[in-house]
Amino acid sequence: MKKNRILNLFACALLAAPAALAQTGGTQPVYLDDTQPLEARVEDALSRMTVEEKVRLSYAQSKFSSPGCPRLGIPELYHSDGPHGVRAEVDWNKWNYAGWNNDSCTAFPALSCLAATWNPRLAARYGQAIGQEARYREKDILLGPGVNIYRTPLGGRNFEYMGEDPYLTSALCVPYIRGVQQNGVAACVKHFALNNQEQWRDYIDVYLSDRALHEIYLPAFKAAVEQGGTWSIMGAYNKIRGTHASHNDMLLNKILKGDWHFDGCVVSDWGATHDTYEAAMNGLDIEMGTYTNGLSSESEFGYDDYYLGKAYLQMIREGRIPEEVVDEKAARVLRLIFRTAMNRQKPYGSMTTEEHYKTAYDIATEGTVLLKNRKGKNREALLPLRKEAYRRVLVVGDNATRNLLSGGGSSELKPKDYFTPLESLRAIWDDAAYEPGYVPNESLYAPQAGTPHTAADSLREEAVAKAAGADLVIFIGGLNKDYRQDCEGTDRVSYNLPYGQDDLIRALAQANKNLVVVLLDGNAVAMPWLDEVPALVQSWYLGTMTGPALADLLTGKANPSGKLPFSFPARLEDCPAHHFGTISYPGDGTRQEYKEDILVGYRWYDTKGIEPLFPFGYGLSYTTFEYGDPEISATRMAEGDSLCVSVSVRNSGSLPGKETVQLYVGDEECSLLRPKKELKGFRKIALAPGEEKTVTFTLKADALKFFDDRKQDWVAEPGKFKAYIGASSADLRGEVTFTYE
Ligand code: BGC
Repeated sequence: MKKNRILNLFACALLAAPAALAQTGGTQPVYLDDTQPLEARVEDALSRMTVEEKVRLSYAQSKFSSPGCPRLGIPELYHSDGPHGVRAEVDWNKWNYAGWNNDSCTAFPALSCLAATWNPRLAARYGQAIGQEARYREKDILLGPGVNIYRTPLGGRNFEYMGEDPYLTSALCVPYIRGVQQNGVAACVKHFALNNQEQWRDYIDVYLSDRALHEIYLPAFKAAVEQGGTWSIMGAYNKIRGTHASHNDMLLNKILKGDWHFDGCVVSDWGATHDTYEAAMNGLDIEMGTYTNGLSSESEFGYDDYYLGKAYLQMIREGRIPEEVVDEKAARVLRLIFRTAMNRQKPYGSMTTEEHYKTAYDIATEGTVLLKNRKGKNREALLPLRKEAYRRVLVVGDNATRNLLSGGGSSELKPKDYFTPLESLRAIWDDAAYEPGYVPNESLYAPQAGTPHTAADSLREEAVAKAAGADLVIFIGGLNKDYRQDCEGTDRVSYNLPYGQDDLIRALAQANKNLVVVLLDGNAVAMPWLDEVPALVQSWYLGTMTGPALADLLTGKANPSGKLPFSFPARLEDCPAHHFGTISYPGDGTRQEYKEDILVGYRWYDTKGIEPLFPFGYGLSYTTFEYGDPEISATRMAEGDSLCVSVSVRNSGSLPGKETVQLYVGDEECSLLRPKKELKGFRKIALAPGEEKTVTFTLKADALKFFDDRKQDWVAEPGKFKAYIGASSADLRGEVTFTYE
């Protein structure tokens, strides 16, 4: 166990370092004494280390570990993916799974689901629980959370991120990070920065304005550092303005370590380092995964051949890299080791506990979004389903039975349990019939030339025939983390659902008026059948508790309260990243320009007057909420002041439910283009039927500021502003006006 590992190393250090003991008069060396201030321990350890030992801290010793300093009893760091559960053990030197029988975990819902909860308390529980599992598995660094901004529905890793809005992402990543780190395990916030697509991720060179960088793509990382206090951060694969992100002077030295005073470690993404001098001088602290493509291929290079290995040492010896650089990097790694591997105060952690399953269940139920719920001429609700109302129940769709935790890339998990939707629905209707309805990997079943009838046709026809004779049809499909379907390393190739699901959903809707469509995925999809289906539930990769959460939501044991963390465009061309042609997405193969600038997601739809299919912040409930008129505490505000915007919300339906009240602010007069409005606050409240609560938001000048590239600073310009209260970005329930002076 790690505790013994540390004690052994300490004993070894005491034997191996008599000189050190002499220096401290026979007492414990300062670096080993955890009652001493952190910086004194770092200084002390550094003063005892050779340059070779300092260098050795900065590059991997296995696929998922980097060394400490054995002579001084300073242990190594164990890293693990992240971000939805603790990944199964991988071989020391290879990507193969090690085949242990004690490394299965709780699979928590994907971060897109956490984002859809709009609930920072759940983010704290998520971080705490996954941190406990990481600690139990003796990990020091958990590779997550992912906080890149959702730019296009084709993005292969959107399911690992928290949507299109920097305020929402910031508000949720901070408690997640704090929760993880309470366990003496470092969060490693990724991927810094602008890894907003998977296509050509290793070399695509992103060009964007300073405003877009600071207003849209950096705020969550900044919050992770300044508010979350993250101990490590992962450099991304892509280039930014000509230099790889993992050794980018502007990003790492100037912004992260300079402006934000980050005192932790920059860890490269696996295989994201490309140059010794740049890596050394431009802020990388630990190099991981070099000479692999991140996931699969290997080479014969040894770890000392890493860019921060012997080539780095050589440059130091030649005086091309100053010793302060070496000391600074080593100090950061030592700080990280003291905070994690050598933290003797940390709790023991725990694995797959009932409490962790409850946390996973709560996030899954609160994150699922009810998008549509009406049928027939009277437009009555189809959901929630009453067990007694339906005798012959048919479940259709591959995602009802598929293990959605394997695949997708580095976030794939080996859960101890995975409760499928089908088994949980059969716990309600024990004789529910099942039909796959489509073939998830059609190439495997490709028709022979001249064969008119494919396997896919047969599956669709069987499902539709059975649907006609059923009382209720529940379709469970979506994407599935297979190649190009929410998967690392590749983007999606179409906005439509794959495997003929659009045709199937249409045919099911024609065959049966009681059709519930449930989508499990991490992205917006086209919905050409939307008008034809009465009930639509947007769910995500929900982890271990997928089945129980969905069954409870569909039958009303849980009331949906998720709201979309990103907009669903009606057509892909409406999406701002796609509006400006291929140079904007996916780029020309080497270079890419973010031409939509600051107008990402709802900022674009709002400002340009384009109606999305479903707007950011949207989600229904089985109950209804009435909003009162918002009130404002003052109509003038100056720097240093704050003002309050309050609104009362009443549950006007007959079931208990939760509502997320959203506050947006719009700048009415500005010398630069600003979005029509931007999210600046939200509060999720629980209301019993008939209950009313007042929500109060405090606005400070910071909420009015934009990044002025002319001044390279955040500025609030005097003038008129509006504060909007909304149930979504498009469903505004009131507004108040004030001036900033
Ligand atoms: C991914 C990272 C991941 C790392 C280690 C990379 O390919 O981009 O997110 O943490 O592999 O598995």
